[in-house]
Amino acid sequence: GIPKFVKIVEVGPRDGLQNEKNIVSASVKIELIHRLVSCGLSVVEATSFVSPKWVPQLADAKDVMEVVQNLEGARLPVLTPNLKGFEAAIAAGAKDIAVFASASESFSKSNINCSIEESLVRYRAVTRAAKELSIPVRGYVSCAIGCPVEGAIPPSRVAYVAKELYNMGCFEISLGDTIGVATPGTVVPMLEAVMAVVPVEKLAVHFHDTYGQSLSNILVSLQMGISIVDSSIAGLGGCPYAKGASGNVATEDVVYMLNGLGVKTNVDLAKLLMAGDFISKHLGRPSGSKTAVALSRV
Ligand code: HMG
Ligand code: MG
Repeated sequence: GIPKFVKIVEVGPRDGLQNEKNIVSASVKIELIHRLVSCGLSVVEATSFVSPKWVPQLADAKDVMEVVQNLEGARLPVLTPNLKGFEAAIAAGAKDIAVFASASESFSKSNINCSIEESLVRYRAVTRAAKELSIPVRGYVSCAIGCPVEGAIPPSRVAYVAKELYNMGCFEISLGDTIGVATPGTVVPMLEAVMAVVPVEKLAVHFHDTYGQSLSNILVSLQMGISIVDSSIAGLGGCPYAKGASGNVATEDVVYMLNGLGVKTNVDLAKLLMAGDFISKHLGRPSGSKTAVALSRV
């Protein structure tokens, strides 16, 4: 059977916005985070402490984090690619962080400018520093299904990187289909390989919806025992270093499906719709959530 409760990790303010060309002001980001937290989401990924040369949209990470750091009701993790990012995150008040490795050598190079092994060395340093401050660390494995350069990624490589992140102390590992090429046909063998080395309750799935497969992929993941799902308000998103990657699966669509399955999330769909409307209007385009579009007509 599928889990009775699913934890949704909202990644809109980070994954959703990082690829936006026009800079969204810190005040809009802050309001979005407030609105998402008020929906009942228990985790809202707030921003990234990465190089502003690499991700200009999130150059205001400090300004955003300093305002939202004491928001109650949700954890607000931030991405940190190295110790420099970790220190900046902590100085700005972050209490949760995430590190992001890749199962593809080429993508590791283009996303964080180092090899997989070099990234694991960096992340061991970050997780060690985080442990001293009792800061929980989430680990991402990007290109868990496919890579824009290398094509299909073997499940054994994903399992290897997931296990390394788990061994260094990550409390949760999110398996990312960065470019959105997964189908249930490739998700199942990937999860089987990872579940053989990391306990299923520590695993999250992170789908981008390039081919419209995300909800099917989430459903098979739930059937395999996964109970943590990443999603993005209004289906915003895409990685600047993954050409062709479209938005994350929309949070509204995930909640609509989970409501239909009788799976609890503690997330208020009506409030989500308003948060999605807020950011879509701000960006000046229709929501990427089919649920939002459908319910705005009724
Ligand atoms: P680099 O150029 O190799 O870094 O970038 P470096 O160590 O050589 O330093 C170069 C400059 O960057 C220096 O500044 C550093 O101080 C600065 P300069 O002396 O030239 O003025 N720098 C920093 N500045 C701010 N914050 C930092 C930082 N570190 C160095 N943390 C680096 C390496 C990792 C920094 C860079 O490649 C980077 O920032 N990459 C981030 C890319 C990114 O954020 N990608 C999107 C997130 S991943 C994703 O979306 C996938 C995911 O959603 C899951 C999925 O979908 O699969 C998570
Ligand atoms: Mg992503």
